Amino acid sequence: MTAYKFIETSVDQQIGVIELNRPKQLNSLNRNMVGEILEAMQSFDRNDEVRVILLVGKGKAFSAGADIDEMAEADSMSLELLNQFADWDQIPLIKKPVIGAVHGFVFGGGFELALCCDVLLAADGTEFSFPEVTLGVMPGAGGTQRLTKLVGRAKAIEWLWTGERIQANELQKHGVINRIVSPELLREEALRFSNKIASMPPLAIRMIKDSVNKAVDYPLYEGMQYERKNFYLLFSSEDQKEGMKAFVEKRKPVYKGK
Ligand code: HXC
Repeated sequence: MTAYKFIETSVDQQIGVIELNRPKQLNSLNRNMVGEILEAMQSFDRNDEVRVILLVGKGKAFSAGADIDEMAEADSMSLELLNQFADWDQIPLIKKPVIGAVHGFVFGGGFELALCCDVLLAADGTEFSFPEVTLGVMPGAGGTQRLTKLVGRAKAIEWLWTGERIQANELQKHGVINRIVSPELLREEALRFSNKIASMPPLAIRMIKDSVNKAVDYPLYEGMQYERKNFYLLFSSEDQKEGMKAFVEKRKPVYKGK
């Protein structure tokens, strides 16, 4: 397993776990750390032993956002030349399911990272915020776009303008969070949920992610045409034959991801 400086990775059954590991700085995200997160995700995406990627944070927070110390002295041209968002752009291209299990503070870039997850579990009491405005800036890794698409313009602009803390249950009401669980059970529940998805036929899971992602950007008709092609494509898989045969034979299917 690759040695990383700012994250820890492990494989737990078929779950590739990525743990943000800068707890003293509340897992604030420096540029190298984002690079490591992406590298770990891409490596799990290629790893046949991994079916689901689980993203968690060590210590008292999932992430308090981008590393302000690193950003403080930046200027426009240095940011342009660094092209740091190239890494962020690749995160949504991960094909396997990405489950986020967050707790404590989920702020700024940490919130943007959470919004890149396909499914989000939050510990009861987790606080979310886009505090960039209080620093004289704004989100830069998709926050204004993803939040608005998820919750609508009214709440998005209010939260982005005020930087106020949003409670997990408020976000759940707006469809951003799938489940809220007690802090002690967060990891267990996240692994349980991840295992459930890992037990499903991987190619169907993959094509569903691909199709749902298109629903965000495509008009309905084009999205439905895209969905149909993925539906047809799955009929070339061994798992489709196995799933339907097992149903007819009244036994449990064994899926291989082929
Ligand atoms: C650098 C950070 C940090 C951050 C916390 N720390 N957040 N360092 N960047 N984003 C450091 C603190 O300086 C402190 O270091 C240590 O972590 C513990 O933090 P405390 O503030 O002592 O903890 P607490 O009192 O519990 O307060 C937690 C907090 C607060 C409310 C989350 O730390 C906070 O407001 N942090 C900044 C949040 C923020 O503005 N995030 C948005 C960043 S902009 P020392 O050395 O003193 O112990 C952004 C843009 C994204 O994300 C753009 C795309 C990538």
